Amino acid sequence: MSPDLASLPTPALLLDLDKAETNIEAMAAKAERLGVRLRPHLKTHKCAEVAALQLARSSAGATVATLEEARFFAAHGIDDLTWAFPVVLSRLDEIAELAARVTLRLVVDSPEALAALGSLGLPLHVWLKIDCGYHRAGVDPESAAAVELASRLAATPKLTFDGILSHSGHAYDASSPEITRRIAAQERDVMVACAGRLRAAGVEVPAISIGSTPAMTAVTDLTGIDEVRPGNYVFFDYTQVQLGSCRVADCAVTVLASVVSSCPDHAVTDAGALALSKDPGHEPGRTLGEVFEDYGAARLSADLRVTVLSQEHGKLSLSRPVGERLRILPNHSCLTVAQFDHYEVVRGERWIDRWSIHRVR
Ligand SMILES: Cc1ncc(COP(=O)(O)O)c(C=O)c1O
Repeated sequence: MSPDLASLPTPALLLDLDKAETNIEAMAAKAERLGVRLRPHLKTHKCAEVAALQLARSSAGATVATLEEARFFAAHGIDDLTWAFPVVLSRLDEIAELAARVTLRLVVDSPEALAALGSLGLPLHVWLKIDCGYHRAGVDPESAAAVELASRLAATPKLTFDGILSHSGHAYDASSPEITRRIAAQERDVMVACAGRLRAAGVEVPAISIGSTPAMTAVTDLTGIDEVRPGNYVFFDYTQVQLGSCRVADCAVTVLASVVSSCPDHAVTDAGALALSKDPGHEPGRTLGEVFEDYGAARLSADLRVTVLSQEHGKLSLSRPVGERLRILPNHSCLTVAQFDHYEVVRGERWIDRWSIHRVR
């Protein structure tokens, strides 16, 4: 017998499928409008069923964050995967094994990683990672090192140079939608200019791959770009609401929690850090999870929120009666999902299925 939401044991991760389907359709339509291929990042959900919905609407393969995710989705029939993470040199054997079965696209930003891939003597696809302004990984787009690495990559026997790749993670620091739009335009311009410099130096650049969810939701022109890799858009979360990437009504993942202890000035739920994660969100110190006053109306409570998280306890800002059940909008859906083994899939208030989350590293 299917459970109903009123009796589901908590904490539970609820996936509102109507909303996820709408988000998938909207991003696919936007990529089509802007003339770019959509290669969704699957680390957000780690779920075969969600990936199938995304790939039914875009045909450019997928992006993953770990080799374990790559193996999992390969086992579910996805045969073109970009591991969008600097190559881990202790995992070359696993790369070789997987690349024999699917088109595995790797990312390098160092001579060491490039030499290691070249020494495998295998036909591998490789992107050069460019730092488009996030300053996490990637080579300086204006440096001699970018030209040097790209030339060497293109000339390495057996390796196929796929092009240049960036991630605009700094869009998460934007203080207004206008700044997000500027960062999105900056990523595009930096990457197109970088490709121009490489081409002028005689290196053929087959493609440019960019993206993050805030940048993709904000951008209006991607002239010169070939591929985008947003991931979070499938679920969104409270951080994206604050950034202006989406509305509360678009957020597809919530945590169902129960009040387990109550005091005059606060209460405690069973959704602690191991349910919500401890992501501080867009305005650190403001909230560790927003509480719905009315989920159907997409209305958050003005003053009830999660204020402190320990491992299994989630402290609320106000007193609530023991036994009350709350729906919490997490700051960061990707990290929240990674705390759970499965989704309780719902349409509105109706439970329809349970889907597994493959969260092994
Ligand atoms: C390299 C890379 N590409 C794409 C993405 C997807 O970005 P988002 O999570 O904003 O959708 C990420 C996310 O961290 C990433 O690290």
